[in-house]
Amino acid sequence: MNIVTQIKAWQTIRKQFNTHSLGFIPTMGCLHEGHLSLVDRAKRENDRVVVSIFVNPTQFNQEQDFLSYPNTLEQDTQLLIERHVDYLFLPQASELYSDHYSIKISEETLSAELEGAHRPGHFTGMLTVVLKLLNLIQAHRAYFGEKDYQQLLLVKKMVEALFIPTDIMACDTCRAKNGLALSSRNTRLSPEQQQHAAHLFRLLNSELDINTLQAQLLELGFKIDYVEEKWQRRLAAVWLDGVRLIDNTKIR
Ligand code: PAF
Repeated sequence: MNIVTQIKAWQTIRKQFNTHSLGFIPTMGCLHEGHLSLVDRAKRENDRVVVSIFVNPTQFNQEQDFLSYPNTLEQDTQLLIERHVDYLFLPQASELYSDHYSIKISEETLSAELEGAHRPGHFTGMLTVVLKLLNLIQAHRAYFGEKDYQQLLLVKKMVEALFIPTDIMACDTCRAKNGLALSSRNTRLSPEQQQHAAHLFRLLNSELDINTLQAQLLELGFKIDYVEEKWQRRLAAVWLDGVRLIDNTKIR
């Protein structure tokens, strides 16, 4: 696996494979089986695969959350080598944000609700970095998990609105055996807390009406940011012992 840290170096490499299809998985590291399932799919569907790891400061609406974001670069690199990824792109914040974030891309309707309402600025930071990465990588396909469903919708909307020539591929949420959606944030929960957190998926996936579902979540000790039905999905963001969890399920 070729590790690329300089933007210029990546641009030189990118010019070389005009005839190959390129798949891209943007990540913030702390990789788990969910990310690796995107890698596996990208490997099946493309000649070359590039993964980026960049903990994007502009999408954290709380500094502490950014500062405590886990850094597991050595382990991540090993996992990507084992999955036969071709390129690992590790851009530096100073290069990616040479404009000091004075140029941003924001969306004004879809991003105002749910996650956007609870995490001001999050989607502007996310869209800005995804646009920069898509422009740099120039992949044929980029892979996003459905766990961050609103993010996926926003990226698709941006790509369409700005005529970005990369296909956005939506991938199913990967879950632990107990149903808990895999997330880098799960590392902040003990095994017992992870077991308890699985109630979120169980309830979202149940036939309960939304009010009963919310009441049961509260009874189980979750704090609720939102539980809503939208886009033929049930989407929720909750807190368990100070850790924020999001998940969504298709409405059956
Ligand atoms: O989903 C994520 O991990 C991040 O939001 C992304 C897409 C890598 C942008 O920083």
